[in-house]
Amino acid sequence: MKSLMLTAAAALLLVSALADAHQGQHHGDHQATAQMAKLHKMMPRYAKARALIEKSLEQGNLKGVVKQTDYLLSTTADLKKSQPHKNVVQLKEFQGIASGFELDVDALAAAARKGDLEGARAAFTSAVKRCDSCHAKFRT
Ligand code: HEC
Repeated sequence: MKSLMLTAAAALLLVSALADAHQGQHHGDHQATAQMAKLHKMMPRYAKARALIEKSLEQGNLKGVVKQTDYLLSTTADLKKSQPHKNVVQLKEFQGIASGFELDVDALAAAARKGDLEGARAAFTSAVKRCDSCHAKFRT
């Protein structure tokens, strides 16, 4: 009788040990998490930059434009390296849109620096289209 109870107790211990091991299992691969977090943090600042550039262009304030393009260009290397949550398999297309965005912001900065308001407006319109096309495909 005593040995039977011991066996039962040992069996219980074994069952709970197995349950613990199962709960401790790792879920998935979190390697890309840091890059996603970076993107998520950048985007609200992008929205602010877009609004400020729009306002500066309305006022013909090209210095104000350059201030924001300086910020955006300081981030585009990270943008090209980052990774969306959605449609991750199409990462090449994501990187292509990011590169196009960088070129537009470059053109916007160049136009603003030489006082070309019309050129700046055209480059801004094109850059904003990239914001939207990237979101259409990669924003959850
Ligand atoms: C190359 C792709 C890409 C470009 C270009 C891009 N975005 Fe995004 N954006 C994303 C992705 C992906 C998300 C969703 C990811 C996330 O928030 O975690 C996002 C989310 C956002 C959000 C929501 C943030 C939040 O807190 O949920 C805003 C606002 C935003 N973007 C603004 C902009 C603006 C403005 C521009 C252009 C000046 C821009 N983005 C350019 C990919 C892009």
